[in-house]
Amino acid sequence: LGAGALAVLAGCGGPGERKAMDTTGKVEFRNPLHIPPLAPATVDGGRLTFDLTTQAGESNIVPQGPSSTWGVNGALLGPTVRVRRGDNIRINIHNELPEATTLHWHGMRLPAKADGGPHQMVEAGATWSPEWQIDQQAATLWYHPHPHGATERHVYKGLGGMLIVDDDEEGALALPREYGVDDIPVIVQDKTFSSNGALVETDRIGVGMLGTTILVNGTAAPVLEVTAEHTRLRLLNASSARSYNFGFSDGRTFTMIASDGGLLAAPVPLTRIMLTPGERAEIIVAAAPGETAVLRSYPQELGVVDFRAVDAGAQDTLDVLSLKAAARLAPAAPVPAKLAAVKYPDPVLAGEMRMFMLGNNVINSKSMDMNRIDLEIKAGATESWAVLNSHNQPHNFHIHDVQFQILSLNEQPPLPELAGWKDTVYAPPGVTIRLLMQFSKLSDPVVPYMYHCHLLWHEDMGMMGQFLVVDA
Ligand code: C2O
Ligand code: CU
Ligand code: CU
Repeated sequence: LGAGALAVLAGCGGPGERKAMDTTGKVEFRNPLHIPPLAPATVDGGRLTFDLTTQAGESNIVPQGPSSTWGVNGALLGPTVRVRRGDNIRINIHNELPEATTLHWHGMRLPAKADGGPHQMVEAGATWSPEWQIDQQAATLWYHPHPHGATERHVYKGLGGMLIVDDDEEGALALPREYGVDDIPVIVQDKTFSSNGALVETDRIGVGMLGTTILVNGTAAPVLEVTAEHTRLRLLNASSARSYNFGFSDGRTFTMIASDGGLLAAPVPLTRIMLTPGERAEIIVAAAPGETAVLRSYPQELGVVDFRAVDAGAQDTLDVLSLKAAARLAPAAPVPAKLAAVKYPDPVLAGEMRMFMLGNNVINSKSMDMNRIDLEIKAGATESWAVLNSHNQPHNFHIHDVQFQILSLNEQPPLPELAGWKDTVYAPPGVTIRLLMQFSKLSDPVVPYMYHCHLLWHEDMGMMGQFLVVDA
């Protein structure tokens, strides 16, 4: 399809055309949750080196039949890359797919040339080896493809994985951290399968593709055997368009400990946590021996506006993951009352506020142009951005290179679950969000970073801009 054909497709569909889905109690949870392996690293001259191969394959996800999928070091999704603050790393990306792609390190502060955005394409058969030093606090990040115009398709086919950063501050806290045992990646995606198991890639409405089958870590109808009194779930919305409002079937309270960019200052008790595409949250779930609880997505509510009128899967009630506690559980320490020192930039240092108006596949009335730099930002600058969704559809907003503080939504202070470091934020229609952040001290006069709507179809359709970090 040429760009013109894509523009026509984007105009079709829209809010209100789809009936709300409800899978409550209809999912028969029976498949053990797949835990992505940790990516092996070799040490080479003081550098931790990872090898990631993007490849095509076949996956058995649903009973109807096998699906052609893409994955990293396997047929679907990829290993969890785990690094520590201060590490010098190299990641060799070998592209064995029949077309060019790229891997972007979402949420990572790193030099622009290593960012894996649409300017760092890895051609079919080629290898790309970015190197950088990990320079941020412990956090749950992720990696995914970012080829301009094809990100949604590449993610939907199965490319992506989790990227965990550790540090001493997090390591000193009494938190569950045994990977795959009481510290669990929960990569939530929705896909639609045909009657013979093939991935349906064409069923789009205004927000993009809303799949009818929910997968966690690539597993349909997943069950997690809980073996400890406290389990840490690293929730990642890796869907291309669907937003989830997570909660538990019995209404239990859980404890949020971290958002996109790392630990909160203090834990936040919640019964719901909403994540739009690209967002993460770490939660601690307490369990009693022998019990079962289902992680679900519930119809969304937000105090600021009634956005149930618009459709990003917002009216759906979906079964996501069944947690089955063993008869005997490993004891857990109480969640620490204080987590991390969160030190936001001084707002006095920010100059004039920059405005970003989200429209119909445009930002500030402009469609993405790979050859146009939209902004130049001085290295190390503290800036204040205002993001206004002036469109009647849901969007969100993601910025590369930085973690930001949410100052306000329509002049109201953010809810406690939004009061941590963020790199992606939900932008409901009619809402203005004010952000504060400090940019990288490393300038690169040539390679831009991106900001964009993380509803991947919107991003592909041009809802993205580019900024350079230049010498101060
Ligand atoms: Cu998650 Cu520009 O990406
Ligand atoms: Cu990103
Ligand atoms: Cu959007």
